[in-house]
Amino acid sequence: MELQKIKKYIRIDEVSQEEIDALILRVNSCSWRQTFHIQPISGLLNDPNGFCFYNGEYHLFYQWHPLGPFHGLKYWYHTKSKDLVNWENVGIAIKPDNYFDSHGAYSGSAIEHDGNVFLFYTGNTRDENFKRNPHQCIAVMDATGTITKLEKSVFDKVPAGYTEHFRDPKVWKDGEKFYAVIGAQKTDEIGCVVLLSSSDLLEWNFEGELATHLNHFGYMWECPDYFEIENQGVLIFSPQGLEPEGDSYQNIFQSGYVLGEKLDLQQKEMNHGNFEEIDRGFDFYAPHTMMDPQGRRIMVAWMGLPEVEYPSDINGWAHCLTLPRELSVQNGKLRQKPVQELQSLRKMKAEAADSLTDEKKIYDWISGVTYELVCEFERGDAAEYGIEFRAGDDEKTVIKYDAVQGKVVLDRALSGKEVGGKFGTERKCEFSGEKIKFQLFVDSSSVEIFVNDGEEVFTSRIFPDVKSREIRFFATGGSAAFKAVKWDY
Ligand code: FRU
Repeated sequence: MELQKIKKYIRIDEVSQEEIDALILRVNSCSWRQTFHIQPISGLLNDPNGFCFYNGEYHLFYQWHPLGPFHGLKYWYHTKSKDLVNWENVGIAIKPDNYFDSHGAYSGSAIEHDGNVFLFYTGNTRDENFKRNPHQCIAVMDATGTITKLEKSVFDKVPAGYTEHFRDPKVWKDGEKFYAVIGAQKTDEIGCVVLLSSSDLLEWNFEGELATHLNHFGYMWECPDYFEIENQGVLIFSPQGLEPEGDSYQNIFQSGYVLGEKLDLQQKEMNHGNFEEIDRGFDFYAPHTMMDPQGRRIMVAWMGLPEVEYPSDINGWAHCLTLPRELSVQNGKLRQKPVQELQSLRKMKAEAADSLTDEKKIYDWISGVTYELVCEFERGDAAEYGIEFRAGDDEKTVIKYDAVQGKVVLDRALSGKEVGGKFGTERKCEFSGEKIKFQLFVDSSSVEIFVNDGEEVFTSRIFPDVKSREIRFFATGGSAAFKAVKWDY
């Protein structure tokens, strides 16, 4: 039987090894397999989970359905790394195999406690009428890497006033107490975040809804994350149900944050500024952060979106995670920088510098499929300037500055196989400055573009032909000068 057609909640141990081998063969034959991003060995990856540093290594888990590129039964898959660059596939971490998580081990987070790591996740279940029932569960990873689930869930009911959409605990410690934010939907179908507390991680109390200034902001908030940085509070979440507004909220679902005063744990309220989207690209969801031993706040997200089909589906796999990014605050906004460890991937270096006037140029020694490219433009009087990359006969992906509109624009209309076309082919945001630096991380089927050292970031999947390797620099309606450095990855 075609794996894609088998029933949604099938477990990996119900499928023969031959079927799994055939699926993996199909996955590995795909020309869009990534080279320096975390991706599933087969099937579908979604949210990053349980990101932490323990026993000298970073541990990063993700939502995984092994048997095909669809949202089937979800496992937690485990990867680890000493340097945030080279990741080892460890294997399945949490299997959805008991009463509390029979229909999926859903998203959650990690915290070290008493020498072990506590993985706090949502067990998803469905009753005979297919009604969803979420249980908040814990699995403990010890120093040998063995992961054992607690026998019972630690928070088993949905409090009155909320629907079955109650999931994705993100845990932290404040003083002697543990807290967790959970993504929720109220019975009037308004999204929000609630707060739980615990003294031992084993028994949890419902504190109530976290009061924000966003009282009617979508129908469900998924994957919340709360942390403090530079003496301020940041609440990240992924709201569903926002309508597009100008250049904002163009994707099917959004991910963003509010920044402000630290969360008042007694009053359960946060005083904050506007909701800001974290990323300006096409494929970014469910960001998840951790604090590492150097005190860095590091974020990883799912480079994909729910309810959108992707061209790699036909090869039996879908999605990858973003590169890890270090967060900081600048001018009241979060700024993201690729972690500096990524520089260890830099191989052959190539450079070019030029001044362009109403022209598009290529430099024979600058092209490729997987690379980092840093390009600084200085505007003369050009109306637009930028870069076409992964370009070939009929294909190109374009990042440019439109000086007339004062916007950075990413255009994937001609990026290869179409993805999410009904949500448009351009993403833009306002940006000012006479100098613009684009730092691109280009993998076989993705690009992450950091603008002026992470003031804005555009993250997107692209599905070009392997032959589309050209990099073209252009200025139209006047002149602009640039300096570019590229490293093969
Ligand atoms: C977000 C999400 C979470 C849920 C998980 C299931 O993408 O829907 O809310 O826990 O994915 O895979």
